[in-house]
Amino acid sequence: MSAIKKDYKRITTKSLIEMKSNGEKISMLTAYDYTMAKIVDTAGIDVILVGDSASNVMAGHETTLPITLDQMIYHASSVVRAVERALVVVDLPFGSYQSDSKEALRSSIRIMKESGGHAVKLEGGKEIKESIKKILNAGIPVMGHLGLTPQSIYKFGTYTVRAKEEQEAEKLIEDAKLLEHLGCFALVLEKIPAHLAKQVAESISIPVIGIGAGGGVDGQVLVIHDMLGMNNEFSPRFLRRYMNLYEGMTTAISQYVEDVKSKDFPNEKEQY
Ligand code: KIV
Repeated sequence: MSAIKKDYKRITTKSLIEMKSNGEKISMLTAYDYTMAKIVDTAGIDVILVGDSASNVMAGHETTLPITLDQMIYHASSVVRAVERALVVVDLPFGSYQSDSKEALRSSIRIMKESGGHAVKLEGGKEIKESIKKILNAGIPVMGHLGLTPQSIYKFGTYTVRAKEEQEAEKLIEDAKLLEHLGCFALVLEKIPAHLAKQVAESISIPVIGIGAGGGVDGQVLVIHDMLGMNNEFSPRFLRRYMNLYEGMTTAISQYVEDVKSKDFPNEKEQY
């Protein structure tokens, strides 16, 4: 199956909306550092998400809750320095926007000013409406995030599929429509039934990007470490591994250790 693809020099929030109306699927991956972002951007990704999943994959925390605004800005600024084409979206971390809309705006302004990111993402619907309005009023593009919202993991209790029950599904649909109405440029739907995600994508005009939300949405996002197979503990059904870097890197590093110990490295050509 050949993909519909327009040649964009630089991806903007407008390009994403255009892609949705042209039926071109949107590709999105996370990145948290300069070298990885350069590879991801060169490979032609549309959106790079500096996700708060950095808390897990970069810092080794069990949840996304501990990462700070300063740490997110550090990761985002490293990514921005590498990127020439992709739209860079930066997660507002837990605790940087929940208490009130002024704090949400202050945190978003810090991200935009200090990292050079192009947009912010935050988790939630109706309950953060005022914050979204304030951020948008300041001219900062906002991406929403509904379904499994990892910053609320202690409220949910588990990482299982969300919105399987009618009441939660109805709230999710209402929230998605509200985010569109407020002016968000796109929406991430995480780990919800495929039929519900498709229904949402068909009922709003902004692009819906799914993770564990099936193929009926307008684009897909994965965490880069997961799709490259850099860990082998995390294996949800929605994850497609494109490489087994955990094995490849472990083999390469073991070989290096052996070569150093055996004095095989460096050889005569590898010295001055
Ligand atoms: O932080 C993150 O990586 C995310 C994606 C899972 C969408 O929010």
